[in-house]
Amino acid sequence: MKILVLNGPNLGRLGTREPSVYGTTSYADLVALCERTGAELGVEVEVRQTDHEGEMIGWLHEAADANLPVVLNPAAWTHYSIAVRDACAQLTAPLIEVHISNVHTREEFRRHSVVSAVATGVIAGLGVAGYPLAIRWLAGRTAPEPA
Ligand code: DQA
Repeated sequence: MKILVLNGPNLGRLGTREPSVYGTTSYADLVALCERTGAELGVEVEVRQTDHEGEMIGWLHEAADANLPVVLNPAAWTHYSIAVRDACAQLTAPLIEVHISNVHTREEFRRHSVVSAVATGVIAGLGVAGYPLAIRWLAGRTAPEPA
């Protein structure tokens, strides 16, 4: 089983980007954290980041075609990209939307997500710890039941 962890715009700059909001964990550390979690659970975890909406939509199509579970931090697209939402709506395996910050305590425009309505679940405000939690849930949910 493989889990795709997809990150939207500006998340490649984690660690230096507004550390008071997003913390000091670098993007490379986030990738390592997700991969380590997958290794612990015996599932393959592939982490990607893009600043380009079309590339993200292509990755979501790939996940839909391969029936892969997805952890998605849509970053700013969360709040306005109907194209990303429509790509998420095509997924056949569970989708967990993750936000590092608690978007509900921030600016008004961050309080609405166009993605949440098509997500299986949402984690926000737990920092980068939200990613391993999402991976764990997906691994438990999609792994075959022990005999
Ligand atoms: C974010 C929250 C979004 O509002 C913002 O645009 C991001 C990151 C988060 O992880 O807290 O880029 O998705």
